[in-house]
Amino acid sequence: MDLVQIDVLYNRDDIKNKVQMLGKKISEDYAGCELLVVGILKGAFIFMADLVREITVPLEIDFMDVTSYGLSTSSSGEVRIIKDLEYSVQDKDVLIIEDIVDTGLTLKHITEILKTRNPKSIKICCLLDKPSRRKANITADYVGYSIPDRFVVGYGLDYAEQYRNYPEVCIIKPFKAADPQ
Ligand code: IMP
Ligand code: MG
Repeated sequence: MDLVQIDVLYNRDDIKNKVQMLGKKISEDYAGCELLVVGILKGAFIFMADLVREITVPLEIDFMDVTSYGLSTSSSGEVRIIKDLEYSVQDKDVLIIEDIVDTGLTLKHITEILKTRNPKSIKICCLLDKPSRRKANITADYVGYSIPDRFVVGYGLDYAEQYRNYPEVCIIKPFKAADPQ
């Protein structure tokens, strides 16, 4: 993908409103609780930074970084932990924050690992969801936007480590020059 076309899918205002709604719902659902918010690096870093500022219950944050074995363009489902959590999840209400759920294989693996550590509860919040691509039985508890099978970048999401800093969520596709007249 040398030349690419980038179209805005959700702009700054769309995302701001959506993150506020998610934060409000999470705050209501966890009233009286203390949360451990676990961000999955790197894609979740911007979404998580905005979302935690919309959550009003006490919370701690931690991060996990994983990589999947195999081909880079699609998840193989075999996940290796590159950076593990700093804190124990035992008896904690854990909320995993992910940028996008695609096949669901990564989150299936992560939730399986964390469940062995005896948390009080585990839920998932993702900004974006591509349900048509699902291979694993994973349903996020909080979903910003359900999107079709398109590759998106920006607001933390990358293509080959680029575009994470774009403030909008954009669809990226190979650029096709117009046919000569
Ligand atoms: P899954 O295991 O297939 O659900 O993989 C999810 C991960 O794949 C996400 O955390 C992203 O890092 C990456 N991913 C999936 N779809 C996209 C996309 O459209 N843009 C950028 N990254 C994506
Ligand atoms: Mg990711």
